[in-house]
Amino acid sequence: MKSELTDIANSVRKAVLPLLGSEQAAAVVGQGVDGAPSYGIDAVAEKAATDAISRIGLGVNILSEESSFVDNGAKDTLVIDPVDGSRNAINNLPFFSVSIAVGAKNLSGIKYGLVMNLVTGDIYYAEKGGGSTRNDVPIHTRIYDEKKSVYLVYVGMHASSNAYDIMRRSSMVRSYGSAALEMCLVASGSADVFYMRSVDTAHALRIVDIAASALILREAGGEVFDITGNIMDMQFSISDRKSLIAVGDKSMRRLSL
Ligand code: IPD
Ligand code: CA
Repeated sequence: MKSELTDIANSVRKAVLPLLGSEQAAAVVGQGVDGAPSYGIDAVAEKAATDAISRIGLGVNILSEESSFVDNGAKDTLVIDPVDGSRNAINNLPFFSVSIAVGAKNLSGIKYGLVMNLVTGDIYYAEKGGGSTRNDVPIHTRIYDEKKSVYLVYVGMHASSNAYDIMRRSSMVRSYGSAALEMCLVASGSADVFYMRSVDTAHALRIVDIAASALILREAGGEVFDITGNIMDMQFSISDRKSLIAVGDKSMRRLSL
């Protein structure tokens, strides 16, 4: 499955990179299935991905951020966010990714996950039970040490007010704007936690944002919890949205409790 998912990701990257900084990339061209604005860059990425999926002939259903569920009567579903971090891309902020996962029914049923950094081309990949890699080299989460801690925290007008309390516990805080890629930074031991807590469900994360990166993080030794400290699961539904705490060291499970 790795070569097929890499092929799809490369197709998205090839279509998207020439658009960076252009008016076409930033134009609002519609709404995703959940009502969120869809930008030109999202539409181009979606088309590149669906064309590649048809060309490869994967034989899966498709759940994408940008279009409705395509039921091909298959057992497995490909869950894709063609651009995670669209607003970074349209502002020419070089941190956005494509996230592709394949599995059955729900987040815990994901079997394969790939996240590509669309700027650098770095590929994070995991198969259930097979560990995680970045560019084919195994990656692992790191053991938590508060003095050297790095927290990735979602901030801004929709962030929960306790995000600031969380940030004050860390020696270093960053907010990068692509949940899929930020979770991969936790998976590869560059950061200890990705904390994403929205004041309202309408701005929390969807299965398309995290399907691949949750598997990559779990296979690298970390875990994804919901905001009540339970192991996170999500249905294959674009309307399901949740806040989360993605940690490298499972002892951080109770971070916000
Ligand atoms: C967004 C990114 C961002 C998160 C937003 C998501 P999108 O995804 O994952 O990090 O804070 O909530 O909507 O819209 O660029 O696919
Ligand atoms: Ca997106």
